[in-house]
Order: sequence, then structure tokens, then C-alpha cells
Amino acid sequence: MILKEKKGIIFGALDDKSIAWKVAEQCAKEGAELVLTNAPVAFRMRGDTNIKVLAENLNCQAIPADATRLDDLEQLIDQSMEIFGGPIDFVLHSIGMSINIRKNKPYTDLNHDFMQKSFDISAISFHKLMQSLWKKDAMQKWGSILALTYIGAQRTFPHYGEMSEAKALLESYARTFGYYFGDRNQVRVNTISQSPTMTTAGTGIDGFQEFLDFSDGMSPLGNASAEACAEYCVTMFSDYTRYVTMQNLFHDGGFSNMGMNPEILK
Ligand SMILES: NC(=O)c1ccc[n+]([C@@H]2O[C@H](COP(=O)([O-])OP(=O)(O)OC[C@H]3O[C@@H](n4cnc5c(N)ncnc54)[C@H](O)[C@@H]3O)[C@@H](O)[C@H]2O)c1
Repeated sequence: MILKEKKGIIFGALDDKSIAWKVAEQCAKEGAELVLTNAPVAFRMRGDTNIKVLAENLNCQAIPADATRLDDLEQLIDQSMEIFGGPIDFVLHSIGMSINIRKNKPYTDLNHDFMQKSFDISAISFHKLMQSLWKKDAMQKWGSILALTYIGAQRTFPHYGEMSEAKALLESYARTFGYYFGDRNQVRVNTISQSPTMTTAGTGIDGFQEFLDFSDGMSPLGNASAEACAEYCVTMFSDYTRYVTMQNLFHDGGFSNMGMNPEILK
């Protein structure tokens, strides 16, 4: 139980395919006390696998918060600290959405108002979250803040569209805020760059199955699953990674360091 007595907020469990869903389950298994959160619309989703069901299963609270709204984030942090009876040990930002991809706008014909909204949801929300935690001094000493990202931030994947720039911004916020949080609170801030994964956000991308197969073929270990990602997140929330900060950590079966894999040519 490597998260025993640790208290954390997990953003982004939409359904049982969500990476955040698996992370929440794994954190609970490792003894953590949790607060789950997602945009208010996620709370209105029907079916057997919505955030309310997960909260029931894990015997924790789920609090709606739009991650682009500072007032929502501030309320969420206050309520969580009340539930936990003190500061927060770890936070997962598992949020991403591209309006242009949703509207099938190609990269060479983007709507820039949509782009700003996509950046706000997928990246600026991370800064807003960290700034809110910072101002409230809500993080426990030696705590851990984590966001999920994709290698589209460093390399060109045409179908990933404006999310490439959103992820580059997200990763940069982790480095810069990582300095401030490290210096004042001994809190670490990192991003995990995950393999393509079959989730609602993933499948919004054109030709996603082919993309997933290609990535699997290129990676000597194959694509990392959402469950494996959850285990890595738990490691990053545990005391065994206290000096890892301001890093973008690839969790991708080796994909990021491959040039060509003969497997692909078969
Ligand atoms: N699926 C992949 O292939 C893949 C690969 C690498 C990284 N990631 C990243 O992992 C993270 C989680 O995505 P996922 O694949 O589990 O998909 P997902 O669709 O299950 O999760 C995305 C979440 O973002 C939430 N969200 C959207 N707008 C929001 C807002 N305004 N406020 C609060 N929450 C909001 C959604 O409700 C949803 O729960 C994202 O950052 C994504 O970019 C995904």
C-alpha cells in the first residue's frame, strides 16, 4: 500500500476507459483517500460507467468543477481540504479536448477562437489549477502534481492537430511551476507522456486505430496500456520518486527513442 495515508484529487474520469478512471482505482487499491472531479457535463452522463458510479465504488466524493474556471477550482480545493482534514498530497490533471478536431477542422484551416478554447481546456487549466493550489498553499510538503501528455508535443503527428501545441504548453507549465513549487514547498511537478490509448479523447482523432497499431509496432515493448499508466502515476505519487521533478516522462514502450523498427516493414 504505497499510498497509505496519502490524499489526492483526480481530474478526468469520464468513463471506465478513461486513464483517470484506472488511476483512481489503482490509487484506492494502494490505500489513498481520493476526491474525484470532472466538468459538470460529465456528471450528467448516463450509463453504468460515469464518475458518480466510480465515486460510489471507491467510497469517495465526486465534485463537479470546470477546470477552465478559477472559481470552480478554488471551491474544489477548499472542499477537498475540508474532506481530507488538511493539505493535498497529490493531484492528477487528466484533461484534454480539441474543439477543432471535434469540428473536423484541418490544421491548415483552424478556427483560432476554437484553438484558444482548446488551449484553455487542455493546457491553461493546468496553470490555473497549480496557481489555485499555490495561492491556497494547499499542497503537502513533498507532494506530487502530475499531468498527462503526448509525444505530439515534440514530434509531428499531423492528425493530432492543435493538440500538439496544447501539449507543448502543458509540458512547459510543468517545468516552470515545478521550479516554484519545488523551491517553496518541496512539491514536484511532472508530465507523463503516454502511448496512444483507446479512450473517448483518443478515439476523437482521425484514423486512431491505424495510429495505435503503428505506435504498437514501433515500440519494442508495445503500447503502454491505461492500466500500466495508472501504475506509473501511483509510482509518481509515492514517496519513492520524491526527487523527480520538472520532467516529461515517457511511458510509451520505447516509442520516443525509436527511429525505425523492422517489425513495421513486415
Ligand atoms: N488516449 C490517448 O491516446 C492519450 C495519449 C496520451 C495522453 N493522453 C492524455 O490523457 C488525458 C486523459 O485523456 P483520456 O485519453 O483518458 O480521455 P478521456 O476523454 O477519458 O478524458 C478526458 C477528460 O477531460 C475532461 N474534460 C474536458 N473538458 C474539461 C473541463 N473543462 N474541465 C474539466 N475536465 C474536462 C473530460 O470530461 C474527460 O474526463 C488527456 O490529457 C489526454 O490528452 C491521452
